[in-house]
Amino acid sequence: MCSGVIRLAIVVWSISCLSTITGHRILACEPSHAYSHWNVMSAVLESLVAAGHEVVCVTMHPATDRLAAHPNYTHMDMSSMAIGSTQIIQNVDYAQMMRNHRSNVVMLKRVVARSLRMCEYIFDMPEIRDILDRSGPAFDAVVMESLNSKCMSALPDRLGVPVVYVVPSPMVNWMPVATGAPDHLSYIGTLLADRPTPTTFNQRLANALVNVQTVLVRWYNDKGRDHRWPEYRHSMVFVNTHHSVEPSRPMGPNVHEIGGIHLNRPLSPIPQDLADVLEKSNKFGVIVFTFGSLISMNTLPDDVLDTFKIVFSQLPQTVIWKYENDYMPDKPENVVLCKWIPQRAILQHPNVKLFISHGGMSGVYEVVDAGVPVLGIPLFYDQPRNIQNLVDLGTALSMKINNLTHTTLSITIDRLLNDKSFSENAKRVASLFRDRPMTPSESVVFWIDYLIRHGTEGNIRPSSADASWTSHFMLDMCAALLVALLMLWSITSFVLHLILNKFIPSNLK
Ligand SMILES: *[C@@H]1O[C@H](CO)[C@@H](O)[C@H](O)[C@H]1NC(C)=O
Ligand SMILES: *[C@@H]1O[C@H](CO)[C@@H](O)[C@H](O)[C@H]1NC(C)=O
Repeated sequence: MCSGVIRLAIVVWSISCLSTITGHRILACEPSHAYSHWNVMSAVLESLVAAGHEVVCVTMHPATDRLAAHPNYTHMDMSSMAIGSTQIIQNVDYAQMMRNHRSNVVMLKRVVARSLRMCEYIFDMPEIRDILDRSGPAFDAVVMESLNSKCMSALPDRLGVPVVYVVPSPMVNWMPVATGAPDHLSYIGTLLADRPTPTTFNQRLANALVNVQTVLVRWYNDKGRDHRWPEYRHSMVFVNTHHSVEPSRPMGPNVHEIGGIHLNRPLSPIPQDLADVLEKSNKFGVIVFTFGSLISMNTLPDDVLDTFKIVFSQLPQTVIWKYENDYMPDKPENVVLCKWIPQRAILQHPNVKLFISHGGMSGVYEVVDAGVPVLGIPLFYDQPRNIQNLVDLGTALSMKINNLTHTTLSITIDRLLNDKSFSENAKRVASLFRDRPMTPSESVVFWIDYLIRHGTEGNIRPSSADASWTSHFMLDMCAALLVALLMLWSITSFVLHLILNKFIPSNLK
């Protein structure tokens, strides 16, 4: 009895010690208005509060999931800036979205301008001013998305604490240079070039041109700010990739993959009507069709919607379609409409045979984890590349939305359902995806702790991150070598000239 009390006292004492040792104060910032970005950032922050840290986050997204009502999570609201293009975006008109993304130049100009506006707003917030003047609370580290401007990096720079940048997509074109492992344009597919691994000469050329173009356009629109950020000495990058899906690439210990971190949440319950559809499906199973939260499906062009309806009506499967209206004209019998679906929970159900998706990063990890084949219809940004990764892995086929016909769509769906290799590959990739030394959440908690513990002594930053481009391409050494060779050549020819002049009679010349 007595020893039990002592043991309990020791346990309580060590837990309280542990929390005073590990509880850090972390300032987070998620300036993006897109829910998909918040989905990744909030999963990082959930891991931190669950490990006993206190987090204050500047964002316009209200606290969700395990952050809502957590005593150690504080939401610092920036939603009063949310007007026009900075509002939280959901269910946007398809045509408008495609206009905004019609070219990399147009898209980058918009996103950089928006980042600068958000940056200005954040630095004007009284709470942030107090923190920067050191009259507000102090923090041990900053966790933020840098968005597309170096401007945001001023926050950790001014505070002088370690910073972790969270990248919700694969590496953005201008970041690898700053981490000291620049993309080699011959074999690392750049984010907006659609091909994860360029192989032919044309693909490599296109890859290099897209990289140079996007880096220059970003730099120009960011008022000439350097692309070498995060330049701050103890900074780290968490990128939403995993080498089972995205081709592996060289990176230093200042970059860590947290691909699929949002899967650490418990599965949401499936509403009864959908659960019935899944349970009572015939032996052909169920197809899940969604373009995510960003685009409103009912704004797709009529001919595209009609193609889907006609092809679906000829399938023996039931189709669960994320659709924003209660009513759909000419809805086929076997289609079930849903305004919102607990996507991950549904994909885990054994009766789901195919996922039709635009290739948003979160959905890609959910379907990889579930081991289900994919028909990808990518629309913009990282989506073509995300889908191409799955095509390269043999778990998906890709189609272009402006090139869908009844015949091609039904042949593609038929192949994905009946060729067993797609589901076999999907199961194989799922097992690779889950096979890790630690979960992304554990990795986040460990590395942030490491940065705070060791600061600049952590030795995580490769010296290549600070090298100038002349030393990176060895231009100075080549120039020195060239000068030496030229000197050798001129000395040799001068000496030869002298010798020839001296020993050869002038009448023989
Ligand atoms: C909140 O943070 C404090 C101080 O870091 C810690 O002692 C406490 O256990 C945390 N609370 C929860 C519910 O994690
Ligand atoms: C459109 O689809 C057809 C049939 O699959 C294909 O042959 C053609 O190359 C596609 N066109 C484009 C622009 O992708």
